[in-house]
Amino acid sequence: MTDTDAQYGTDDGTRITDEVIASFAGAKDERFRELMRSLVRHTHAFVRETGLTEREWHEAIAFLRACGDITTDTRQEFILLSDVLGISMQTIAVNHPTRANATESTVFGPFFVDDAPRIDCGGDMSGGAVGEPCWVEGTVTDVDGRPVPDARIDVWEADADGKYDVQYDDGRLAGRAHLFTDSEGRYAFWGLTPTPYPIPHDGPVGALLAAADRSPMRASHLHFMVAAPGFRRLVTHIFVDGDEYLGRDSVFGVKPSLVTEFARRDSGDATPDGRVVDGTWTRARFDIVLMPESY
Ligand code: BEZ
Ligand code: FE
Repeated sequence: MTDTDAQYGTDDGTRITDEVIASFAGAKDERFRELMRSLVRHTHAFVRETGLTEREWHEAIAFLRACGDITTDTRQEFILLSDVLGISMQTIAVNHPTRANATESTVFGPFFVDDAPRIDCGGDMSGGAVGEPCWVEGTVTDVDGRPVPDARIDVWEADADGKYDVQYDDGRLAGRAHLFTDSEGRYAFWGLTPTPYPIPHDGPVGALLAAADRSPMRASHLHFMVAAPGFRRLVTHIFVDGDEYLGRDSVFGVKPSLVTEFARRDSGDATPDGRVVDGTWTRARFDIVLMPESY
């Protein structure tokens, strides 16, 4: 061992890790210190474990730069990256563990819009979007089965062409709405039978999926966000039972408890509210159980 080795330790890579971790010792915010130290520990271990080459490191930097370049107010490539790496779902697992009989959470996605139109119970959220009509009904209750009246339910979904309204450049507002549960915690609305669609894959995240021979498709789903005073806000989807992408959703969002039967009905079958439907339609039931805020 040389004098220099004795002073600084042999550099198998762990010395620099220790030094960088120590450099955060003075951070005033304890949580920041914890996060940065852990980040350094894990990223340094990744570099050592994989023997990351300088060329690969440059490519990774160029990839992150490309994510930044394509990101706009309406296109968030870093969230997409987090989604396809399962980090979004991992964060949900940590922050929203399934407790008791409460409804499970899944990814928020980039297509929510504030202030979607209000519809009455039994109203139509499709806003003229193309697709097969679907009647969705259910209740919102607490974990003891007591109804939650006046819960706000936001719903949003892609049309049968696989696009959300905000992905068209004509300013349309369709396939989204909000409504409130009635005095007995019930809700119902007309929407569209969900169909599979690809996440935006014309950017660096799409290239990453292609390099991994992974599909950009999401399993067919309908988004819900449910909020009521005294309860934790729930962000979730329902997925279509039998959908071909249930086992390979590109963002790992599927949870078995959220897979729902969308029962197909014929043109002449009576609808729950007497609406006349020209063609087939489907019917789904989703009973929602909210966690108390203080669980
Ligand atoms: C979505 O379901 O809208 C979505 C979720 C994650 C990434 C892209 C889209
Ligand atoms: Fe979606």
